[in-house]
Amino acid sequence: MKVLIVGSGGREYSIGYALRKEDKVKEIFYAPGNGATSDFAKNIDIKDYNKLAEFAKENGIDLTIVGPEAPLVDGIVDIFKKEGLTIFGPSKNAARLEGSKVYMKNFLSKYNIPTAKYIETNDKEEAFRFIDSLTPPIVVKADGLCAGKGVIIAKEKEEAKESVVDMLSGKKFADAGKRVVIEEFLNGYELSVFAICDGENYKVLPAAQDHKRLLDNDEGPNTGGMGAYAPTPLIDKELYQKIEDRIIKPTLKGMQNEKAPFEGVLFIGLMIVDGEPYVLEYNVRFGDPECEVLMPLIRSSVFDLFYKGATKDLDSLNIEFYDKYAVGVVMASENYPYSSSKPAEIIIDEIVHEDLKKHSHISFAGVSKIDGKLYATGGRVLVCVGLGDSIREARDYAYMLCGQIHFAGKKFRKDIAYQAL
Ligand code: AMP
Ligand code: GLY
Repeated sequence: MKVLIVGSGGREYSIGYALRKEDKVKEIFYAPGNGATSDFAKNIDIKDYNKLAEFAKENGIDLTIVGPEAPLVDGIVDIFKKEGLTIFGPSKNAARLEGSKVYMKNFLSKYNIPTAKYIETNDKEEAFRFIDSLTPPIVVKADGLCAGKGVIIAKEKEEAKESVVDMLSGKKFADAGKRVVIEEFLNGYELSVFAICDGENYKVLPAAQDHKRLLDNDEGPNTGGMGAYAPTPLIDKELYQKIEDRIIKPTLKGMQNEKAPFEGVLFIGLMIVDGEPYVLEYNVRFGDPECEVLMPLIRSSVFDLFYKGATKDLDSLNIEFYDKYAVGVVMASENYPYSSSKPAEIIIDEIVHEDLKKHSHISFAGVSKIDGKLYATGGRVLVCVGLGDSIREARDYAYMLCGQIHFAGKKFRKDIAYQAL
C-alpha cells in the first residue's frame, strides 16, 4: 500500500513512523513533510489540493491521511473524494465542528450534549446582558480558527466586555471574531479523548493529557503543547462509558442527521466537573503532541485503523493496545512561542544504553535538512517519546533521551506528566 500524509509536524511524523513498520505499507509520501520524514519517506512540495489529488491518482496512492486542521477546514477531503481517492479525515462540512465555535455550540445544544451554558451573538448589547447575568470568571471565544489564541478567560465582567468589543470590531482575530461565544466557566480538570470515526462507528484511543503552558508548573504563555502522556489515570471505565454514551454516540448520530457524517479523528476537549464530562471543544484531527504518545501505544495495525476509518469499515476492526505508558517531551527552539529562532544544528549522541534504545524514540517536527545536516528551524523542534510499564518509567526514558539531544537554545519542560505522578 502507498500512503500520503499531509502535514509537516511531529504529529504527522509519528503517524508515518508507526506506518513504516508495517509490512503492507510499501511507500510513504509527505506533503510537505520535514527534514526528518525524508529519512523514510518521499517529501513532495505541492500546495494546491487539486494538484495534490492529481499526484495521488498518478502515483497510485491507496490512502491519504490529513494531519492538520487547516486543509480539512479548507475541504481537502471533498476534493480527494470527488476524484475517487481514499482519504481519512472529515469533509469541509464536518470540519466545522472545529472551524466554527458557534456551529459547534449550536450543534451540542441541539443534540443535548453536555457543554457550558452559553450564548452566541454578533450583538454587543446582547453579549453585555449575558455577561451581566454570569458570575466571573467568564469565557469569551472568537468563532473562527485563531491558532489557539481565540479564548479569553476574563476574571472580571469589564474584561469580558472589553474582549467582546475587541473581537466584534474585527480588531482582534479579524473575521474569525465577528461572532463570539460567551460561556460560563467550568471548574474541573481537563482531559482529551480521541475517537477514530468512520461516520457511523468509532474506536476510542487511550485518554491523553497535554501540557499547554510553556513553563513548568503550568506557568507562562499558552503554546501548541509542550508535552503529553497517555493513558492518563484521570479516567476510569465509568467515565469512558459516560463519554461514549453522552458525547461520542450522539455526536456521530447528530452529524449524520446534519448530513455531515463525521469521518476522521474526533478530538474531544473535555472538562470533568464532579465526575461529569462536559465538551469544551471539538477538534477534527489529532492533537500534537498527543498523537506522538498515542501512535506507539497501538498494537494492532495503524494502517488498518485509518484505512477502515476512511472506508466505513471500522466495525470489522479489533483494535488492540500495548499495556504500556507513553510520555512525550517537546523540545522547542529558543524564542518559541514568541518569534522564530536562528536555525541551530541538532546533534544527537549515539545511544549506547540498550534499554533506552528500545524504549524511546524521537518524533521530529520543526526540522530541516541542510547539506545533509539536521537543523532546528521551527518552534516545536522534536518530541522525545519514552515508553514504559509505568508513567514514571516512560517519563524517565523520555528525559534520558532529551539528555542525548543538543541544539543551541533548546528548551523543554521538566515536569511532563506531573499530574499523574
Ligand atoms: P478551547 O479552545 O475552547 O478548548 O479553549 C482553550 C482552553 O480554555 C481550554 O483548554 C480550557 O483550558 C479553557 N476553557 C475553554 N472554555 C472553558 C470553560 N467554559 N470553562 C473553563 N475553561 C475553559
Ligand atoms: N495539543 C493540542 C492541540 O493539538 O490542539
